[in-house]
Amino acid sequence: MLNVQDLDVFYGEFQAIDNVALKIEKGQTVIVVGPNGAGKSTLLRTIAGLLPPRRGTISFEGQRIDRMEAYHVVENGISLVPEGGRVFPHLSVLDNLKVGSYNKAARAKAQQWMKRIFELFPVLSNRKTQRAGSLSGGERQMLAIARSLMSQPRLIMLDEPSLGLAPLVVDMVFEFVLTMKQEGYTVLLVEQNANKALKVADYAYLIESGKLVFEGRSEDFDKNPYIKTAYLGI
Ligand SMILES: Nc1ncnc2c1ncn2[C@@H]1O[C@H](COP(=O)(O)OP(=O)(O)OP(=O)(O)O)[C@@H](O)[C@H]1O
Ligand SMILES: [Mg+2]
Repeated sequence: MLNVQDLDVFYGEFQAIDNVALKIEKGQTVIVVGPNGAGKSTLLRTIAGLLPPRRGTISFEGQRIDRMEAYHVVENGISLVPEGGRVFPHLSVLDNLKVGSYNKAARAKAQQWMKRIFELFPVLSNRKTQRAGSLSGGERQMLAIARSLMSQPRLIMLDEPSLGLAPLVVDMVFEFVLTMKQEGYTVLLVEQNANKALKVADYAYLIESGKLVFEGRSEDFDKNPYIKTAYLGI
């Protein structure tokens, strides 16, 4: 479904992504782990069309997207929930969700879709008119995820959705990733919390200093001695 090849991404002279390749099959949950500054967010932002790659190709459902504008990438079925679960703080929960469905394809089915979103996120349905800025951290993350689902993506990319949340809320986020998997979504998840992420993932990539250092099925990740000590604390 997604095929990234030979990817190089620079910020000025600084190379943040160095020859990265990544593949996702339809319906898979794939995680990217790695330390701070490894280039994880850069990778997601590049796939989302927010950064231009200097080299390499990104294809989605057989179509090249590496030169597409970000809004066009969204229309083509990819949605990114950025780090920190950004929402529009002065808008209500409902209006935040409406913003998520502004693209043409999504707008047609927005009403019907909104109902489904509120079934998936009962906590939001009780807070439709509340200002997003007054939601708790966990609720805000849920809203950020829900808003990105409003564009009716086929691939959803989540950038550290559990960061800064209380343990119970972190569990909710991972529960939700599992729900999305059951709903048939394809998920690309960036996580520092490698232990939990590996439990919900089919396949995993490890990035360090912009380079791919290991990839494999989640079970194989658990077995790698370096990953065990460096990332899993076992
Ligand atoms: N706008 C920018 N301009 C210049 N350098 C940047 C910019 N954004 C990120 N970088 C650098 O690129 C590298 C990768 O950053 P990135 O945000 O992708 O890392 P990350 O793996 O997501 O880290 P974290 O786990 O801390 O979120 C870092 O060294 C960072 O300082
Ligand atoms: Mg990041």
